[in-house]
Amino acid sequence: MDSQQQGHQHGPAGHAHGHGGGHGHGGGHGHGQVPAADFDWDAMAAHLELEADLRADAVTEAGRWLSGLAGDGAVRRVLDVGAGPGVIAGLLAEVFPAAEVVAVDQSAALLERARARSGGRLGTQQADLPEEFDKLGEADLIWSGNAIHHLGDQQAALGALAGRLRPGGLLAVAESGLPARYLPRDFGLGRPGFQARMDAANEDGFAAMRAELPDTTEEIEDWPAMLRRAGLRPGGTRTFLVDHPAPLTGPFREYLHTRLVRRHDQLTEVLGAEDRATLEVLIDREAPRGILRRSDAFYLSAMTVHVGRRD
Ligand SMILES: C[S@@+](CC[C@H](N)C(=O)[O-])C[C@H]1O[C@@H](n2cnc3c(N)ncnc32)[C@H](O)[C@@H]1O
Repeated sequence: MDSQQQGHQHGPAGHAHGHGGGHGHGGGHGHGQVPAADFDWDAMAAHLELEADLRADAVTEAGRWLSGLAGDGAVRRVLDVGAGPGVIAGLLAEVFPAAEVVAVDQSAALLERARARSGGRLGTQQADLPEEFDKLGEADLIWSGNAIHHLGDQQAALGALAGRLRPGGLLAVAESGLPARYLPRDFGLGRPGFQARMDAANEDGFAAMRAELPDTTEEIEDWPAMLRRAGLRPGGTRTFLVDHPAPLTGPFREYLHTRLVRRHDQLTEVLGAEDRATLEVLIDREAPRGILRRSDAFYLSAMTVHVGRRD
């Protein structure tokens, strides 16, 4: 999603909010208080899968780092909380071949995709959070990427996750990083700065999304400090590069196209006329300068992982 920083998307359209990945918000968060039109996670499945595929190498590298932090044989049960369609849970299962790996999400349809794709390797647990943290059971490693921001009280969510850790267990939160870049500074349409202006508009949308969440709480998003307040010992912070140079493969171009179409739908009213015109060319499937046809489209982002350890 546009989570550009891999991660933050605030709407059906994937408002990426510059954090790495996709922030989707909405409809799926199971509280029943978000307007139905707000977001359809199931419809987002294919897009979420591509977004996770983009980060596959970074996630594997992060998983190996976590494996080293945990120590040999220490990880017997892994939870991926807010796992979506389970691509990342599947990568964690490769890094921890001896562990039971469970994808947790509010969406039964996304979990079904996860189960099917993994051929039974992944366990799944449907849970509407924060009400159903009790369904998660215990774990030696809890990973959560671009999901905690869908919960109104992020600090309380970290506290609940910390409470599921076995002694010595790790909580790894991938909730920040850098917004993605996908075109050169000057790409021949409109005024340079287009991507930064899109990100700024998206940040506003993300803030509006968070403001609407049930029990929403304002928080300085200092993740290491939040992990400490959740009762965990700091385990370190590392950032992993997500780097797909031009020319992009067809599926990743389609990913960018979907993301830009969503941005177009969500941001039309807040973008200036020139940026709107640029966006319209970029999403035109036939235009030589459209994102599907140009040779200079790439995908560059960074995923930051913050770790806390239970004593
Ligand atoms: C942006 S996706 C991230 C998917 C995956 N972790 C990744 O990084 O690619 C957020 C996921 O969190 C799930 N989610 C959002 N709110 C939730 C809630 N209240 N309880 C459980 N899952 C939730 C959504 O269904 C969605 O699959």
